[in-house]
Amino acid sequence: MNNNVINVAIDGPAGAGKSSVAKAVAAKLGFIYVDTGALYRAIGVNALRNGVKTNDRSAVAGTLSDVKVELAFVSGVQKVLLNGEDVSVEIRTPEASMAASDVSAVPEVRDFLFDLQRNIAKENNCLMDGRDIGTVVLPDARVKIFLTASPEIRAGRRYKELIEKGSQVEFKDVLEDLIKRDYNDSHREIAPLKPAEDGIIIDTSELDFEGSVNVIINAIKEKM
Ligand code: DC
Repeated sequence: MNNNVINVAIDGPAGAGKSSVAKAVAAKLGFIYVDTGALYRAIGVNALRNGVKTNDRSAVAGTLSDVKVELAFVSGVQKVLLNGEDVSVEIRTPEASMAASDVSAVPEVRDFLFDLQRNIAKENNCLMDGRDIGTVVLPDARVKIFLTASPEIRAGRRYKELIEKGSQVEFKDVLEDLIKRDYNDSHREIAPLKPAEDGIIIDTSELDFEGSVNVIINAIKEKM
């Protein structure tokens, strides 16, 4: 274990801007950016591919015996590999989002992904984004941030992202899915989404991208 590594945890609900903002912050700090949601998405996609109901705990747990999930960093960009196949694009569909939220409530899935996340953080200065990073995965992270924004603002950002990628979605469906996912993620029994006790809560509803990046960089600098 390298005691000199610096870990920053960023948690928050879907669409709070975590991935885009956190990526930019990590680049400015020279840290690797780890998107842990991609791991849950890969398990969700694997369940969907195998025709497993994603809200059936024992069936989902059963898929773990022959699944391999890995993260690779290519020029600093994270790729997620499912049994060796790069599924970085396939994990971004609305179906994969809901499947990820379902499988993330399965304790066996959380256990399965725990070491992978911890091992990356042990060896690298990293900014890790998820739902339980400051509370469960890296309780000793140097800085813990909880990034949030109103559901409408978050759904608007997600909608724009999906439309830009060519998806045919309605704003009301994106908002509905996001509210459902928020509920699932914050009401599950294990590792629910919530701010760490010593976390810094940042609301980005009124902030643009640059503003969000600056607020986070300043919060990190203050703690370091
Ligand atoms: O960050 P995201 O939207 O890609 O995450 C997809 C789902 O995975 C989300 O609904 C909750 C779950 N998740 C989790 O439970 N814990 C994490 N550390 C990251 C994501």
